[in-house]
Amino acid sequence: MCGIVGYVGRKAATPILLEGLKKLEYRGYDSAGVAVWNGEKIEVEKAKGRLRVLVEKTDNGAFPVGSAGIGHTRWSTHGKPSDINSHPQTSGTGRTAVVHNGIIENYMELKEYLASQGVTFVSETDTEVVAHLFEHYYKGDLLEAAERVASVLEGSYALGILVADHPDTLVAMRHDSPLIIGLGEDENFIASDVTAILEHTRSVYYIEDKEIAILTGASVEVYDQHSRRVKKTPSHIDWDVQAAEKGGYEHFMLKEIMEQPAAVQATISPRIKNGRVELEIPLSDEDIRSFDRIYIAACGSAYYVGCAAARVLETLLHIPVLTQLASEFRYQSPLVDERTLVIIISQSGETADSRAALREAKRLGARTLAIVNVVGSAIAKEADMSLYTWAGPEIAVATTKAYSTQLAALYLLGIRMAEARGTVTPERYGELVAAVEALPGLIEKTLGIKEQTQQLASRWFSAEHVFFIGRGIDYAVSLEGALKLKEISYTMSEAYAAGELKHGPISLIVDGTPVIAVISDNRLFEKTLSNIKEVSARGASVAAIVCESARDISGEGVTPLTIPDCEPLFAASLSVIPLQLLSYYIASLKGCDIDKPRNLAKSVTVE
Ligand code: M6R
Repeated sequence: MCGIVGYVGRKAATPILLEGLKKLEYRGYDSAGVAVWNGEKIEVEKAKGRLRVLVEKTDNGAFPVGSAGIGHTRWSTHGKPSDINSHPQTSGTGRTAVVHNGIIENYMELKEYLASQGVTFVSETDTEVVAHLFEHYYKGDLLEAAERVASVLEGSYALGILVADHPDTLVAMRHDSPLIIGLGEDENFIASDVTAILEHTRSVYYIEDKEIAILTGASVEVYDQHSRRVKKTPSHIDWDVQAAEKGGYEHFMLKEIMEQPAAVQATISPRIKNGRVELEIPLSDEDIRSFDRIYIAACGSAYYVGCAAARVLETLLHIPVLTQLASEFRYQSPLVDERTLVIIISQSGETADSRAALREAKRLGARTLAIVNVVGSAIAKEADMSLYTWAGPEIAVATTKAYSTQLAALYLLGIRMAEARGTVTPERYGELVAAVEALPGLIEKTLGIKEQTQQLASRWFSAEHVFFIGRGIDYAVSLEGALKLKEISYTMSEAYAAGELKHGPISLIVDGTPVIAVISDNRLFEKTLSNIKEVSARGASVAAIVCESARDISGEGVTPLTIPDCEPLFAASLSVIPLQLLSYYIASLKGCDIDKPRNLAKSVTVE
């Protein structure tokens, strides 16, 4: 979704803003712009389309010339992608420029008020209202104007504001949309996402809801909503610059697929000590025993992690575990009370639907646990407890390493809770811990299937439809496989519980239809094989993900994709790998924009 970067200091702002925006491209956008004080006025350059259009328009950042400015990548909500609707938006005099992430819900009301005061609007955006409003309230004091703006805005916003009267100062403010301040030497930054400023600084302030920051190159002052000065402690960002670079890979997605062994290792190793799972969350044995059910709420791939994890947790804990789409959570009358643990899974920690589910769970009295990748994100802060996945920055829109680390974190949670509830024997506990510890090595081994998935992709890339089938955890993995394929290669793909095919979808199988079956648990082998035979008999072209120890099925006209044997409860961590690679290679053969698929955003901050 939209991205913000701002700079104030002594260097040329435009190249810094453009570089920052480049780092934010992965979030998804359809236009971009910058506003820089050029010594006489605020000069604005904006362009619909890819960032390179803006780069050309500014002669590679040669102008506007100045050392304070704001930049933005826009993912349209109010008004179509166009130069005019791009940010920065300015007031009528051009003396206030604003970049904005989020949605101003009462913008129509504010627009009517401003129109009644003689203001005319040029764009269709809600953001333009903020620029006019700021100017309307500005009487010489930036903080006062920002506070008045904050007092009337409803909705979500992260705002970067540049005002001609204070050309060496930026105003930053937020509510329900992330914003950080990067601290440099004689320079400071604002950004919606740490990757935008990582090459300049790793020292940041997290701006809290309703806080307002006033930045110059030499100082950063932060105020709460009652104009009280807030003392901030800088946080150090561990992510290094290389982690957010492609490092020789053609796409971030492939790099991130290959990083999975290390990411899973980083997530599990600090939490296993002398064969015991130790989690840094305030959850006592007594708390764990008090839960009589678990809800998991998440979106997209994180939801599919929840579907797989629910099977693991139910098996280990002997209590009901229900997974719900976060966007539906509020409408399902969830049976949540103080005896419920609600787990929210989110890579970004900013997904609006997941945040809404979290708030609903808290309102209903549940204990809430966030499984989150981005440190300091809204969901991590709002939940009662957070368990971070240490995947590092995930840049590709299609999640891979975050998915794998979320699974790993949930396995650890399951083992820890099972011990407290006494639902596993000490022997089984030891086996499970060893099985989790083995995962990074097994994922590494599974990645060796790259060439085979490439070959399969070359057979299937022109297919119009692809079907994914599986049972139990394999069904959850099939759902993830189908999502991966459709989001990056634009191929219609559907996942079905294998036994469900004959109840309708089998009518779609014709000669040559690709079907991929996931069978990571040998106990389900014969049952799923019978479903494979049903589709083969109708002409389907079938591949199957099977374990090393499974019976050879190549003689039955099926292309096997073999994964190492592992603990069946944790097999999703391996069976997903060939599906990620297959999607990647199909998208590559189709010439798709793999890291930035059309219409998609990395973190979805609107409901
Ligand atoms: O940041 P989150 O994990 O909350 O994001 C949830 C989904 O938007 C995300 O998993 C999405 O489905 C991915 N593009 C899938 O690859």
